[in-house]
Amino acid sequence: MGDKVTISLIKADVGSLAGHHVVHPKQIEVAKKKLQKAKEDGLIIDYYVFNAGDDLELLMTHRKGESSPEIHGLAWDTFKEVTEKVSKPLKLYAAGQDLLAEAFSGNVRGMGPGVAEMEIEERGSEPIVVFAADKTEPGAWNLILYKIFADPWNTAGLVLDPRMAEGFTFRVMDVQEGKYIDLTTPAESYELLALIGTVGRYVIERIWRNTDKLLAAVASVTRLSLIAGRYVGKDDPVCIVRCQHGLPAVGEVLAPFFTPHFVAGWMRGSHNGPLMPVGLKDSRCSFFDGPPRVVGLGFQVADGKLVGPADLFEDVAFDHARRTALQMAELIRRNGPISPAILGMEELEYTGIVKTLEKLKDRFFKA
Ligand code: F6R
Ligand code: MG
Ligand code: MG
Repeated sequence: MGDKVTISLIKADVGSLAGHHVVHPKQIEVAKKKLQKAKEDGLIIDYYVFNAGDDLELLMTHRKGESSPEIHGLAWDTFKEVTEKVSKPLKLYAAGQDLLAEAFSGNVRGMGPGVAEMEIEERGSEPIVVFAADKTEPGAWNLILYKIFADPWNTAGLVLDPRMAEGFTFRVMDVQEGKYIDLTTPAESYELLALIGTVGRYVIERIWRNTDKLLAAVASVTRLSLIAGRYVGKDDPVCIVRCQHGLPAVGEVLAPFFTPHFVAGWMRGSHNGPLMPVGLKDSRCSFFDGPPRVVGLGFQVADGKLVGPADLFEDVAFDHARRTALQMAELIRRNGPISPAILGMEELEYTGIVKTLEKLKDRFFKA
């Protein structure tokens, strides 16, 4: 409450055009209308609706704080309305897929949609970057966020800006146990890496600046399969990062995407593939339902208003990264259904492969 502003990025796959390819323009239209109404009613200050492949992304600013039932309710109602008014009548693919619960119960966490939220004291100038990815999972941000906030080879400011000299604290969630741990860098960099290398289990949830506990980044950590106990699509993740003036510069925040890395979640949520940075116009998955893609949108938050977006990966500088990602895609696809193209068994245990293995179980014999 008060003067603080909360930035909420809530997303769900509620059906898409041509399989799991892209959000339909009518879905965006209906979502915008709903949020425009909420803006006029004074519930939210501002909003921006966009898509990451087949995921509908609702970026909202308001003064209700994190986990507000009103804001989460608005997001839930928007996803429901889009499903009823567009996805179902047009028979879009997997209509309402991520709405796991029958009825809203106060907070969309654990009900299907992915959430990244931060309540902040708006600075004199407040540049933020929001990232949204498709065909991957929250652990995809681990490498990115480590590089941005803990790697001087990526972020020159860690060396050159005294406000960052004390480093950052990372909150990591063990998504299997539902527990958190806070680790501080640079002192505990190796301990942090020891955890976050296992992307399917340990996921960075938020990051603070050590000098003054300023909240610097938040990411979604939902894992639908752990909620539903079966494969229900990947938890295409979102993330919000504050930039500049004693935090990593926008260019440092984008830098990790210049050298794409492999992430989990491609095709049937069961494959590894490169994370390809794209502009909004290319925010749709095709080849082998991918490759996994990420959009990066820059905004200035001004008294809670969202000035922007700047479509940051649209820039030609990222053509090179796209070519690299496609080369990586070509190489890993040579492996077909053989690891490391396909994920390890602990990740596949929520998929149909379990039934096949069950069927074969009794046919094993000792020679
Ligand atoms: C969806 C995804 C896709 C689907 C695949 C099969 O986010 O990653 O690769 O898993 O297209 O989808 P179904 O089983 O719905 O035919
Ligand atoms: Mg889908
Ligand atoms: Mg998706």
